Amino acid sequence: MKIISSIDELRDQLSGQLRTAFVPTMGNLHEGHLSLMRLARKHGDPVVASIFVNRLQFGPNEDFDKYPRTFQADVEKLEKEGVYVLFAPTEKDMYPEPQEYRVTPPDGLGNALEGEFRPGFFTGVCTVVAKLFNCVQPKVAVFGKKDYQQLMIVRNMARQMGMPTNIVAAETYRADDGLALSSRNMYLSETERAEAPALYQTLNFVAEEMRAGHLDIFQLEHKAMDDLAKRGWKPDYISIRKRMDLQVPSAGDLAQGAELVVLAAAKLGTTRLIDNLEI
Ligand code: PAJ
Repeated sequence: MKIISSIDELRDQLSGQLRTAFVPTMGNLHEGHLSLMRLARKHGDPVVASIFVNRLQFGPNEDFDKYPRTFQADVEKLEKEGVYVLFAPTEKDMYPEPQEYRVTPPDGLGNALEGEFRPGFFTGVCTVVAKLFNCVQPKVAVFGKKDYQQLMIVRNMARQMGMPTNIVAAETYRADDGLALSSRNMYLSETERAEAPALYQTLNFVAEEMRAGHLDIFQLEHKAMDDLAKRGWKPDYISIRKRMDLQVPSAGDLAQGAELVVLAAAKLGTTRLIDNLEI
């Protein structure tokens, strides 16, 4: 595997490649990330991964400096997955001058759910992803459903901006007890780790109620948040949305059987976890 930090060198290395499959990450790789590499391999060749902790997408009170950086271990994992190039730019490589031009998603999508609790987050994500796409020029790029809203926003960006990159969705990779793998899980204490699967269980409860014909969305969301709060969580949101555009379904949408997804974010101690489930 070649490890490249300069954008020019990356371009040289990948010039003439027409079927590149790309997996952008912020490192601290776990099996969830590696499952994306495996899916990428099915969709293109060569597989290119990136590791870049993107300052633009962190809020002032978020954990940019504390974000776990485990470069050597990450390299070994990517080697084993047969990744051809790891693009690992420094901050100077990516942002040699202040990044004043940015890509901002539309309000309704970018400021809802995660965007409401993390202002500017999706502008930071879109800007770096657009820039990474320009560097790698991939035919396909793989994103995890774990970050459902991110996946949808990136997919819409690529389509609306006429980017020649096809966005492929990877299923959420979970531990045996249902907890979605995440870099943040390492911050959980032993008792919190034992409690953490309750988030996924709550999503399953909501999904089952919906399937059983319980269509009072508002009441269901509240009950789910209450249940989590009673167990010591601090939920930011549990929200049933249309898969198509992540908007709140109307009574008409529900009657017509619109495809739905339930999304959640909640804090356990000081660790904020997100998850979602297609209904
Ligand atoms: P990061 O959190 O490192 O995640 C990189 C990719 O791995 C994302 O597409 C994410 O959805 C996926 N992923 C993480 N955990 C997963 C799991 N348990 N199952 C399946 N996929 C999982 O997301 C980012 O980085 C950044 O925002 C980035 C897109 C790289 C832009 O900076």
